[in-house]
Amino acid sequence: MSENKFDVVVIGSGPGGYVAAIRAAQLGLKTAVVEKHAALGGTCLNVGCIPSKALLQASEEYAHAGKALKRHGVMVDGLSLDLAAMMAHKDKTVGDLTKGIAHLFKKNGITRFEGLGALGAAGEVTVRAADGSETLLGAGATIIASGSATASLPGIEIDEKRILSSTGALALGEVPGHLAVIGAGYIGLEMASVWGRLGAKITVIEFLDRILPGMDGELAAQFQKLLRRQKMKFKLSTKVTGAKSGKNGVTLAMEPVAGGEAETLKADAVLVAVGRIPYTEGLGLEQAGVALDKGGRIEVDENFATNVAGVYAIGDVIKGPMLAHKAEDEGVAAAEIIAGQKSHVNYSAIPGVVYTQPEVATVGQTEEQLQDAGIDYNAGSFPFMANGRARAMSATDGFVKILADAASDRILGVHIIGAGAGTLIAEAVLAIELGASAEDLARTCHAHPTLSEAVKEAALDVDERAIHI
Ligand code: FAD
Ligand code: NAI
Repeated sequence: MSENKFDVVVIGSGPGGYVAAIRAAQLGLKTAVVEKHAALGGTCLNVGCIPSKALLQASEEYAHAGKALKRHGVMVDGLSLDLAAMMAHKDKTVGDLTKGIAHLFKKNGITRFEGLGALGAAGEVTVRAADGSETLLGAGATIIASGSATASLPGIEIDEKRILSSTGALALGEVPGHLAVIGAGYIGLEMASVWGRLGAKITVIEFLDRILPGMDGELAAQFQKLLRRQKMKFKLSTKVTGAKSGKNGVTLAMEPVAGGEAETLKADAVLVAVGRIPYTEGLGLEQAGVALDKGGRIEVDENFATNVAGVYAIGDVIKGPMLAHKAEDEGVAAAEIIAGQKSHVNYSAIPGVVYTQPEVATVGQTEEQLQDAGIDYNAGSFPFMANGRARAMSATDGFVKILADAASDRILGVHIIGAGAGTLIAEAVLAIELGASAEDLARTCHAHPTLSEAVKEAALDVDERAIHI
């Protein structure tokens, strides 16, 4: 067992787990990672962030070549789709990146165990390999980073053929004629964008009376308008009560949330995107006495420690947004805390980005949250229509909105819809992290002509002195 004794054992190799392991190794801790899948990288690299962005990028290029390029005097003849090649690009991107993590493990002296990791006696982790053999690891500290899994709905069985989770929707062999999407959140709208651009008719069914719950209301309303222009159909305030899969497609049963007449919808395929649930199966949590919260997530304190000494948890399996960069930051903090350092994650400065066209990006508080909390704020906004670079790019949809405390001018929230919003938000995240005021952003020189000037102008507009509008 001596060679299997580690300072830190990480269970799960997603962005939470692999980053925690690298940081622990950097700090001189003898570190191991247990991953049940042959490929490292977790949901994010294998069936999440990376494959979805590969398909979003490729499908956007296809849609762009089909329509928008003409506006710029670029003529494309004989445009056609090679879906197999598009999928091969996605698979190669995933393969290269997951192999890259194996390389990083080697470089940092991290030992990898392939198998199901479970908590054993105090200070021990067992690894059960696919062939049934067991290895016992000594663990000074254990970090659980087991991630999350797709949630489903009662009466709907995901078969990954016609009734799909995001994993199935990332690997379709042909473009469905009509794709019904249940849930207008991150996954629903990203995957609807991919298949809509490639030619599918899209109907999005959402339980609430709006899309992207949790995001700023004005942003979400504008986004829905733009998605409608891309021919997406929405059925809001509607609940799906069942799905029947047949030879010729799927029939969905639906009814208005407020009550009323039930109806059916026929589609060639259905994507179920109604959220994700923490993944805690097989970890031996009950035997070890690890407490869960009401949502079934592992309960941790501000140091990511569970109620069991030496056992920590990070990422999708604990509270907070289920985002890769949140998991990564928690991984770094947990490793540093285990190494005896003081470390934390600033949850008020975690961006959220929907990688559609246009992109939607947000950080900090929404107008609705500020109003509910009774916080007095000033709002400034600036449309991309008035930004020179956006006009040159024919990317004039959307706006930047900045919310700042009325008394101190401190930036409390930034919400962007527009081309490149996911990159533009980084400046706003830094501003919030550093406690900057809208005046600080407004006085910062922004290169011309760039989309980032819209951020500066929105900051100026907080004080009603934008220049270009
Ligand atoms: P995971 O990445 O889920 O990794 C957990 C790992 O633990 C898995 O490899 C699993 O096999 C392993 N594991 C679990 N139990 C055990 C066990 N007992 N023993 C051994 N191994 C175990 N987030 C973003 O920020 N940006 C995006 O663009 C984005 N796009 C997404 C697109 C899709 C389609 C999906 C589904 C998710 C997306 N996400 C995105 C969310 C992101 O993938 C997750 O927030 C992130 O992967 C969470 O990281 P994690 O390390 O907590 O868990
Ligand atoms: P989500 O929580 O983003 O959206 C789920 C949607 O389904 C919500 O709008 C919800 O109101 C709706 N819904 C719930 N029950 C319903 C029902 N019975 N009928 C109709 N609608 C219903 O969850 P999603 O899209 O599944 O994604 C899971 C998580 O993965 C996200 O919350 C996000 O954390 C992460 N993710 C992040 C991405 C990114 O950062 N770009 C991309 C994809 C996923």
